Amino acid sequence: MDCFVINGGSRLKGTVTVSGSKNAALPILAATIMVEGETVLKGVPDLADVRHMCLMLNRLGVETKREANGDLRIVVVDEMNCHAEYDLVRQMRASVCLMGPLLGKRKKAQVSMPGGCAIGDRPINLHILGMEALGAESELTSGDIFLKAKKLTGCEIFLGGAFGSTVTGTTNVMMAAVLAEGRTVIEAAACEPEVADLGNFLNACGAHISGHGTPRITIDGVKTLHGSEHVVIPDRIETGTFMIAAALTNGELTIQNCRPEHLLAVIDRLRCVGVIIEREGNHLTVSSARRLEPVEVTTQPFPGFPTDLQAQIMTLLCLADGNSVITEKIFPDRFMHVAELSRMGAQMRKEGSTVIVHGVKRLIGAPVMASDLRASAALVLAGLVAKGQTRVSRVYHIDRGYERIEEKLKSLGADIQRIAEPPGSSPS
Ligand code: EPU
Repeated sequence: MDCFVINGGSRLKGTVTVSGSKNAALPILAATIMVEGETVLKGVPDLADVRHMCLMLNRLGVETKREANGDLRIVVVDEMNCHAEYDLVRQMRASVCLMGPLLGKRKKAQVSMPGGCAIGDRPINLHILGMEALGAESELTSGDIFLKAKKLTGCEIFLGGAFGSTVTGTTNVMMAAVLAEGRTVIEAAACEPEVADLGNFLNACGAHISGHGTPRITIDGVKTLHGSEHVVIPDRIETGTFMIAAALTNGELTIQNCRPEHLLAVIDRLRCVGVIIEREGNHLTVSSARRLEPVEVTTQPFPGFPTDLQAQIMTLLCLADGNSVITEKIFPDRFMHVAELSRMGAQMRKEGSTVIVHGVKRLIGAPVMASDLRASAALVLAGLVAKGQTRVSRVYHIDRGYERIEEKLKSLGADIQRIAEPPGSSPS
């Protein structure tokens, strides 16, 4: 296992290019199961989760090839296997988005139930409700959900849940409905840019989808999908992470290949903290006014502040001049990073799904442990600004979602090294 050793205190300066979005790429990769002919995907980040999804596709009869220029070429060669097995699903929850395309194209799917993870229980009841509404029968046996249908028929489906809309639930139902007979209307659909990007990809393959990116998505079923070429949108969470890195280190970054319109809530909150942000086309320039103001942050479905940046903004607010309040409305238990940041001198009090962050003058380097992808990003950010040395263990979490993170940070002036974890040094 690798860890990062970070010597804090460097100001980040320079230009960084954001990679393609992990959470857009994963369902688009899954959707290629339904395509007849070759798909060419550009801008798919080279990440552990993407390699994992390709491995799952390979087992399901889909060939994937990464070209020297980074493009992914994908073609379905065998449609026999419909089983996404536990040994792979348990390693990546997003594997559940194979359910919609398997059911839609092969009319059956056997997908291991993913179970919970470090950020919460994460049920998939709404996904199954959507598949059943389209006409599928479902059965749970030995931890696997079996879905089958003679045919799928369009209908109206309400996908709102106790915590709002569901991103992967929406993509799953959208994919299953693309080849269904007739019209499907998804109400209370997730509006995230990653859902819209999937809709754009499917339309490029011949689907008839409208309203993707809004709470009402209309899908008129088609008979087949053909091959196409698609460029995956830039990763808004990576963009936000670099924005926070600039603010934290009192640095100045130009962030290229981003879509500022996907980050309006983040720009709003960071400006309230005192961060200086300039927008120009698909570039952002971010610099910091030395004094960080405390703010309130509430995570919400898009276009609200994303839960996937909650941990990172917490690191920033740890150094604000006063008390901030962070409320998590998507995953109420997503606070594993609180205890680790406290080991670095952060002062916080957790009350249910809210954390009160008392700003401190400085964070102090320490050995800390990554618990999930975004929590590890928050710890790396803390290490960049902390006094002394920080060792972040279990960085395989960060490798799931940030492409070449330490190379990018190094090129901006950070003192960060990836090393093999010394035996016995990772907390159990
Ligand atoms: N929910 C239900 N029932 C369902 C589905 C979801 O109650 O059937 C609840 C969840 O428990 C949660 C809320 O609805 O409280 C929202 O969950 P959602 O389904 O939207 O999350 P997801 O699709 O499983 C995606 C991203 C996450 C991101 C969330 C929220 C992917 C692969 N994952 O998860 O990304 O946090 O949306 O925006 O797209 C990450 O990249 O680090 C990550 C965790």
